[in-house]
Amino acid sequence: MLATLGDWVDTALSTVSPTKEEKARVDSVARDLLQRCSYAIEKSGIRAKVELGGSYAHNTWLPGEADVDAFIILPEGTSKEEVPKIGLKIANEALSGLHVIKRFAEHPYLESYIDKVRVDVVPCIEAKKGEWKTAADRSPYHTRYMLSSLNDEKKRQIRLLKRFMKAQNLYGAEIKIKGFSGYVCEVLIAKYNTFLDLVQQAAEWKDGTIITVQKIQEGKNEGIAILDPVDERRNLARAISNQKMAEFIHLCRIVQNRKIENPFEKRLLRYAKLTKGILEHAFVLAFEHKEENEDILWGELNRTSKNIAKHLTLDGFEVLNHNAYADNQKAAIAFLIANANRSDIIARNGPPIFYSKEHKRFLSSASISWVFTDDFRTKRLERRKIISLKQILDEYMTNNRAGIAKGLFQSASSTWKLFSGNEAVKSGKELLVKALEAVAGYEPMDSY
Ligand code: CTP
Ligand code: MG
Repeated sequence: MLATLGDWVDTALSTVSPTKEEKARVDSVARDLLQRCSYAIEKSGIRAKVELGGSYAHNTWLPGEADVDAFIILPEGTSKEEVPKIGLKIANEALSGLHVIKRFAEHPYLESYIDKVRVDVVPCIEAKKGEWKTAADRSPYHTRYMLSSLNDEKKRQIRLLKRFMKAQNLYGAEIKIKGFSGYVCEVLIAKYNTFLDLVQQAAEWKDGTIITVQKIQEGKNEGIAILDPVDERRNLARAISNQKMAEFIHLCRIVQNRKIENPFEKRLLRYAKLTKGILEHAFVLAFEHKEENEDILWGELNRTSKNIAKHLTLDGFEVLNHNAYADNQKAAIAFLIANANRSDIIARNGPPIFYSKEHKRFLSSASISWVFTDDFRTKRLERRKIISLKQILDEYMTNNRAGIAKGLFQSASSTWKLFSGNEAVKSGKELLVKALEAVAGYEPMDSY
């Protein structure tokens, strides 16, 4: 069904707040978590405090997706290095008896589930404003700031924005996504008041725009900066990739100017069909990995994908696009390449004729032929042995001159397999198809 953005907002607004029952259930989880943390602090003998933060404390969480963040605030003199040791020990104690996952944001924290509600226990250090030692030290200030500046209507608008970001695949600050965090959504509504006003303004954001809750300045920065209202030296948009920022701005433009499908439920940008014309040029390098930490894995994968693409380009392949994807065991890096085979002949430039020894050495190397060039040098033509993408990947996987991340190399070099676009589709493997879709890009659309 197609409708205007205004109509979709009206229907969505009535569904973005949790029911009384759900709220009561999450409140009881929050009480339980607070008690567990207080008990763990007492047991440790350390003069720490516990405070709830994040979307639970700010009352900006989405139905079905509650996440209770508790901050263990260590006393002021604690050093950054002590946080993992002291803080995580208390966090572990607080979550004892539960299944716990260790996670990393800019800092380590623990995640678990109580009564099917996700809970995070994040250690940080008590700090005066501006004297923060770890990234999480600002969080209690975020909570104070949001509690004093958000009214019920703004909270509803934040929920609406989060729903939109989630449906459009733009939500989440983790490295896998590099999108908009919950806190960024809160700051944007603190600034623009309503979802619709934000959409209207964001559609016109200009390069160098600096968004502060107080005012918008024109600056010299590239792209968009979103300053943290509790610490204007921190640019929250640094954690957002330029692609995700651009996608958001683009979406803000299209949703205003046409009838659309429900943007709070359906992704509006659709992937291009995997036609023969695309598949001919698509390849997927798949391999197993042993990395358990998602943030580390995605950092390594993104680096690897970029490095291999760079080396393929240097080695004579025209790489049009590349993209990485992974699940808990397998990784896939997809490439869109203009020429699946590189030229079998290459010209190499030699030293100037005046360098006798070097010139002689250059010519003595095997070559098809050579010529003098008009800059007093010589050029020799060589036959290449390695022509296909498969052969060159084989070389990268042997000597790792293409910069495959250290943590991935061993497993990748012994398990890698190259699929052509067609083979990847035929395999029916979700991982390969997702990597292909992302590398192929979006379907052409009418201009807005
Ligand atoms: N935080 C931050 N910067 C980020 C992510 C988080 O400063 N990039 C801090 C903020 O103080 C935020 C808190 O950590 O309020 C909790 O973050 P998180 O749980 O990631 O997000 P929420 O805002 O709680 O949103 P969600 O509903 O998705 O949990
Ligand atoms: Mg949260």
